[in-house]
Amino acid sequence: MSVSLLDKNRTPTIVILDFGSQYSELIARRVREAQVYSLVMSYSTTAEELRDLAPKGIILSGGPRSVYDNAAPICDTKIWDLDIPVLGVCYGMQLMVEQLGGRVVPATGKAEYGKAPLRVDDPTALLTNVVDGSTMWMSHGDAVKDLPQDFVQLAHTINTSSAAIGCHERRFYGVQFHPEVVHSNQGMLLIRNFLYHICSCEADWTTNTFIEEAISQVHAQVGKKKVLLALSGGVDSSTLAFLLHKAIGDQLTCMFIDQGFMRKGEPEFLMEFFDKQFHINVEYINARERFISKLKGVVDPEEKRKIIGTEFIRVFEEESIRLGPFDYLAQGTLYPDVIESSGTNIDPKTGERIAVKIKSHHNVGGLPKDLQFKLVEPLRTLFKDEVRKVGKSLGLPDEIVRRHPFPGPGLAIRILGEISNEKLNCLRDADLIVREEINKAGLYNDIWQAFAVLLPVCSVGVMGDQRTYAWPIVVRCVSSEDGMTADWSRLPYEILECISNRIVNEVEGVNRVVLDITSKPPGTIEWE
Ligand code: XMP
Repeated sequence: MSVSLLDKNRTPTIVILDFGSQYSELIARRVREAQVYSLVMSYSTTAEELRDLAPKGIILSGGPRSVYDNAAPICDTKIWDLDIPVLGVCYGMQLMVEQLGGRVVPATGKAEYGKAPLRVDDPTALLTNVVDGSTMWMSHGDAVKDLPQDFVQLAHTINTSSAAIGCHERRFYGVQFHPEVVHSNQGMLLIRNFLYHICSCEADWTTNTFIEEAISQVHAQVGKKKVLLALSGGVDSSTLAFLLHKAIGDQLTCMFIDQGFMRKGEPEFLMEFFDKQFHINVEYINARERFISKLKGVVDPEEKRKIIGTEFIRVFEEESIRLGPFDYLAQGTLYPDVIESSGTNIDPKTGERIAVKIKSHHNVGGLPKDLQFKLVEPLRTLFKDEVRKVGKSLGLPDEIVRRHPFPGPGLAIRILGEISNEKLNCLRDADLIVREEINKAGLYNDIWQAFAVLLPVCSVGVMGDQRTYAWPIVVRCVSSEDGMTADWSRLPYEILECISNRIVNEVEGVNRVVLDITSKPPGTIEWE
């Protein structure tokens, strides 16, 4: 990955060389949590490139290989002559040892996976204030046998003599464990020690510095040209809209495509908030009829998703031509997306990324190849929680910043089978009640998602003296870290009771409320 791809105007304070660890991004995030600007770069970055960047420190990530494998990724050995402090993590430490003349061998019978108490031998520098016996998280099948010259052991565990090593004079340090994972109780303290004491970094990476720098970069990139942004109302596109509006004002046009599958009051809120209150130029595209008529008779979930995705592209394409021409497309690409897709779709002339894919929260498989915009992606160095902080600093209300994830196809995939306006209205009312009651109970921020699902079957009920035969509503509330796995939320009975009473009493067409108590896996969060 080239630096220009990530950020043209700012050099990172800390460079993380990535050797393929699943935790490289997590290291970057921890460094930013310590308010130090950092970037992940490929392990193949040369010493010369690093010299030009002049970071205050380098972190070598872990990786799945053994250093003695033939195909093991190695870094430029000249980095050891740059006079820049280095912290090697797991594989990174083993590589440091190998390249500086020590020896790494398989930890036969002594491989360590999981938590281990760290016995501190040298409580200075890297391990300042790290408590002897504190838990660190290990995951290694190799171990250091011989230390390179001038290195000393700083800490050990029951199975590993070299759990932490260092050469104070050259400011090279290595840890066999993963300080970046939450299971390493004092890992963050160790990372701070490396950043502040060893690399002399300052805690200067704040949301406001980010905003100022992002604005000047957007200016430099876009000049007087026109930018189009597909606004969904989610935190990424909303933050992006605010940031770009601050940077380029009326050169920005936001397109809000209303497919008719938003929650109650959402389109009105979005237009009122962005357009009227903040004078951000938002083009409201009412495509409700178009989407619902395309979905007539469609019951298969995958088919529904495909139709919605294709239709979204069509509307987007038509409207961008009508409103345009535009030079740039703004995307809410975040840091993990950049890492995943780095190296692809680069304009060979300008080095800028070109859109062949619109952000997945619109659930669109891809824009047609001939509709190529240059991209503006000012959030591309941020993680999700950092976007929230930026959004908040820019003045977005909690309603948007803390909004639960909402799928691109919206309520269309929360009505099982064929959708209709009647079912959509019914679900909107029920969904609002679920969210209102969760909010009232102060639980909104503790829950990953809370919503209602409409089932297209009828059951018998009784209301007053009347027999009813109507739909059930499913209440789905889950807790999750990232949406990949989830558990159903144990809501207090009183709240469930309130939700149930209100839905049956207030929502026409519903006579029963049921609770989804399935975790993911085996269930998914959404029902379609
Ligand atoms: P599932 O249902 O797969 O959902 O457990 C995991 C997370 O992804 C969200 N989701 C989507 N988000 N477009 C999106 O932007 C989609 O098509 C989509 N489908 C599911 C879901 O709400 C949950 O947070």
